[in-house]
This record gives sequence, structure tokens and C-alpha cells, in this order.
Amino acid sequence: MIASPWPLTADRDADTGAVLIGGVSAADLADQHGTPLWVVDEHDLRARARAYRDAFLGATICYASKAWCTVGLLQIAAEEGLWIDVATGGELHTAKVAGVPLQTVVFHGNNKSLDELRMAAQLGVGRVVVDSFDELERLQVVGDELDHTFPVWLRITPGIDAHTHEYVRTGHDDSKFGFTLSLGLADQALLRAQATDHVDLVGIHAHIGSQIFGTDPFVANAEVMVELLARWRQEHGVTLGELNLGGGMGIRYTHEDHPVEVVRYGEAVLSAVAAACGRHDLPAPHVFIEPGRAIVAPSTVTLYRVGTIKHLPGLRTYLSVDGGMSDNIRPALYQAEHEVGLANREGSGELEAFTIVGKHCESGDLVRERAALPADVRVGDVIAVAATGAYTESMASNYNRVPRPAAVIVRDGQVRPLIRRETYDDLVARDVPLGPPVTGR
Ligand code: LLP
Repeated sequence: MIASPWPLTADRDADTGAVLIGGVSAADLADQHGTPLWVVDEHDLRARARAYRDAFLGATICYASKAWCTVGLLQIAAEEGLWIDVATGGELHTAKVAGVPLQTVVFHGNNKSLDELRMAAQLGVGRVVVDSFDELERLQVVGDELDHTFPVWLRITPGIDAHTHEYVRTGHDDSKFGFTLSLGLADQALLRAQATDHVDLVGIHAHIGSQIFGTDPFVANAEVMVELLARWRQEHGVTLGELNLGGGMGIRYTHEDHPVEVVRYGEAVLSAVAAACGRHDLPAPHVFIEPGRAIVAPSTVTLYRVGTIKHLPGLRTYLSVDGGMSDNIRPALYQAEHEVGLANREGSGELEAFTIVGKHCESGDLVRERAALPADVRVGDVIAVAATGAYTESMASNYNRVPRPAAVIVRDGQVRPLIRRETYDDLVARDVPLGPPVTGR
């Protein structure tokens, strides 16, 4: 399932040489729906959701919607039996509009407002993941006001350094998220939660970071968290039945990445939990995990059209496409690399290095440094960028007032729209003019 960075159904049309996804030609998609375009392979998406469920038998999989939160995708996740993790009122509203059963929604966030908590109460979300002492106070206020009791997990910072990009590490002690175990904050949070009206403490949660390769950090996290459950049972006489071990499984963005198969990940985590429970003589908690990227990233490619090619003899060749950092901030923010290919035809000639850049007014607006593409790539060609389903649309901006792309989902030769392309009028829709249009003097 992870042998390639491209979606499971990706292929080449034998006649035209165009990339096919879900049986649909990338050349046709670009012509008919415009570029940039996110193309989701529905078969791939559903297969990965199922692979997670199979690998974590008996556990509950929550899709971390921050990876890509749009109505159609949440509907598919819910259809595949996944719970939905949201981290803001906006994500929660999207889940509601999608018709996701709200008792399967988990509400995260390190600074939930009173209004967001009111919304959670009114909608009856399944779990609230409490991240701070201030939030406990707010839960009491909202619980009193609306006569609602919140089922709660405490977010624990377990002191595990997950050796991934600094911006996506969350489990180490010095983190803005959660109650730090080593500083005694987790124990204080337990006592405070128990003493807070309208809070029904049912479990604990820890997410150690994102795009993590290997199973060791996940196993260490499972061990620390089970030990904590066991200690609380012994010292405080409280037995919590739910354990959420977060997301963070790494995926293959390029052929150089070697992530762990989901089956091995499931085996390692579930057996670590079982073994630790055995050692501590603790009844097995119900396990939850929260993958975002690993569910949605590999299913999607972004199609761009080549607009200009600039050859700098002895230096490099720049190839500019019609999107960039506004639809995929990951290369600029994390130095992320995504596999790239020519998509509307096979191309000919030796592979050459092209630096693919976006159309924004910044030198850091990079799509891929030194991508290998056929030497005859030309203006008007369509480029596909792999594994762009996670943290691209969800982190998109309108920098330089570039309208955000459309998204479609493809399967068995059928194309369905997921997100319509933004228009120039959308861009000014929230602007409030200070007077009639200025006519000049
Ligand atoms: N649970 C919690 C509490 C999280 O904060 C996250 C991700 C996840 C689950 C899902 O992690 P995943 O399975 O997707 O790795 N924008 C960055 C990634 C930020 C991750 C934020 N939290 C990127 O593009 O690499």
C-alpha cells in the first residue's frame, strides 16, 4: 500500500501517455476543471481508512480533520466508520454540515473559546479533549449555563521526543499542548477535573507529533500512557477506560521515504498497550488513534499547468506553475518534498532537473527543488504533485489574491466535485468598501 507516493489507482493511459487517476485522464481533468486542481482518488482514500480499521481491530479510528476538512471528505470518513477529530468551531461546523454523527466527534484545541464549548455542548460532541486548566474552568461555566456534562479526555504531554520537524513535534515537555507529565501538571489536571462539575473524565490522550517514521516513539508513548493509567488507578483509585494515542504516522512523499506499513504500526501499538496493561495488571482500555495525513495525503494529487520556463545556463531551469505556496505551503514551511511527474503525456528525452516554483511574489514559493522531468517539458504541460491530500487545502491562503483551487474526487472513470474553485468575486466578498469606487482625479 505504500510502495509509491502516487494514489493506488494511478496509471498511465497506454494511448496518450497521460496519468490516469480513478480511470480519469489528468489531461482531461486539467482541461475541464482548470488548474490548480486537487484530485482525490476515492478508492485510495477508502482503502486507507479500511486498512487503519483492520490494523487496529477493536480500536476506534478518529480521522484528524485538520489534515483536510471539507464536507464531502468528512462524509466519506464517517461512511467508512471513522470518528472525526475537530480542533476548532469551524471544523466542528463542517462536521455538522456533513451530517457526521456528533457523538463520534472529538473536540481538540489548546484554546477553545466559551462559544466553541457552547457549540460542543449544544451539538453533543462525543468527547472534549481538555488541554488546559483554563479550559476546565470554561467547561464548568458552560456546563452550568447549559446544564450539560462533557465527556472528557485530558491531553497529556508525555515527554516523548518524536524526532520529526520542529514545527510538528508535540510530545516533548516544552510544548504548547497538554498537561506536562514530568512537571506534575497531568496529576494536577486529574484532581481538578475530578473536582469540576459537568466534567465526566473518561480517558486520556497524547499525540506526540506528525510524519514520524518507525514504531518506537509510538510504542514509547503507549507505554508511558498505560503506566499513567495504572498509577492513577493505584494512587487515586480512578480507572479510566479510554486511551487515545494520537496520530502522526509518516507517509511516503517521495521514493526516498520509507514509512512503516499500517499493519506493523497497529501491531506494535496494540501489543505495546496489551503488554503494558499485563505488566501493570490494568484492565485493557479502549484504544483510539487519530491519523490525519496517513488517511488522506496519499489519495490526492495536485495538477498544475506550466506557465513559464526560465533557463539559467550553468545554474538551473525554473519552471513556473499556476499555483504554489497558497495551495501548498508545506515546501516553504517545512522544507517538505513531494514527488512530481509530467501528467498530460509521458514526455521524451532524458530526465533533467527542473526547479518547480509557484506564481507568488516570493523566492521561497517552491513546489519542488530539482524535480526530475523529461527534457521536453514545455509551457502548457500539466504537472502532477503527489501526496497533497493533507495540510494543503486546509492550510491554503489567498496570498497575492490568488483564488483557491477546486477539488474533485474520481472513481471508476467518474468525476464528482468536492470544492468549487474560488472566484475573484469571492476574494472581495468580505471586503467592506469605505465609499463608492474611487474614480481617480
Ligand atoms: N491528533 C492531534 C491532536 C494532532 O494535533 C494531529 C496533527 C493529528 C492527530 C494528526 O496527525 P497526522 O496523522 O496527520 O500526522 N501541517 C503539518 C502537520 C501538522 C500536524 C498537526 N497535528 C504538515 O503539513 O506536515
